[in-house]
Amino acid sequence: KTSPRMREVMTSLTRHLHDFAREVELTVDEWTEGVALINWAGQMSNDKRNEGQLVCDVVGLESLVDEITYKKASEASDLATQSAILGPFFRHDHPIREKGATISFNTPKDAEVVYMYGQVVDAKTKKPLANATIDVWEASTNGLYEQQDPDQIDCNLRGKFVTDANGEYAFYCLRPTPYPIPFDGPAGKLLQLLDRHPYRPAHIHLIVLLEGYKPITTQIFDKASKYLDDDSVFAVKDSLLVEFVPRKGDEQAQLELKYDVNLAPQ
Ligand code: DHB
Ligand code: FE
Repeated sequence: KTSPRMREVMTSLTRHLHDFAREVELTVDEWTEGVALINWAGQMSNDKRNEGQLVCDVVGLESLVDEITYKKASEASDLATQSAILGPFFRHDHPIREKGATISFNTPKDAEVVYMYGQVVDAKTKKPLANATIDVWEASTNGLYEQQDPDQIDCNLRGKFVTDANGEYAFYCLRPTPYPIPFDGPAGKLLQLLDRHPYRPAHIHLIVLLEGYKPITTQIFDKASKYLDDDSVFAVKDSLLVEFVPRKGDEQAQLELKYDVNLAPQ
């Protein structure tokens, strides 16, 4: 069955593709190259690598779509934590961990460990929200997410936490570091073509969910990181910058980060 909305979207896409081809006077050879790039992205993709998404991301499409979606959702929720793109490395199937647990099971020697903690609150009333789920994931200091790296155990640097009666969550993680997105495929080829680097600023991914509230997919960025001004996938927003500060009296962590998440009612 055709959906009227999908028909509208595809009709517009077709019109814009035609306009684009006319504007640049696209030749058969050039179009063939484009088709090969799309096919290459498809061939490279599997459950550990989402090259189609990566290609969209380096031209800023996921970030633009996130902005449009968020704007639509946000008229009544200006106070909520801002969203950012999901990116290609999310996994659905990772475990719920206890408050205060670590998500780092192969801590590299060059890593700085962070105690990250805070509250999930109602954006308007600031009432603490119990039973919210915080889903986190980050790359290791070698720039690889666990599913890209045979040297990390399954679900390393991932975890789901549920806020307690005071709306609080806490866990140990690594201070994130900047790293290049995979550039041995079509997304990398596009970046080269445009004389752009593949680096992303240091970030931690978060998805925060609670029934009755608008879900938030976002990333927080280390204020001190390189590449905040030229993220290869255009995801940085000022309100998502955070500062890791020294932590005293904790053998497990040199740094800490207090971060509260503001949810808007549905
Ligand atoms: C992309 C996003 C990420 O968070 C990441 O770590 C790598 C790539 C992306 O948007 O393509
Ligand atoms: Fe990422």
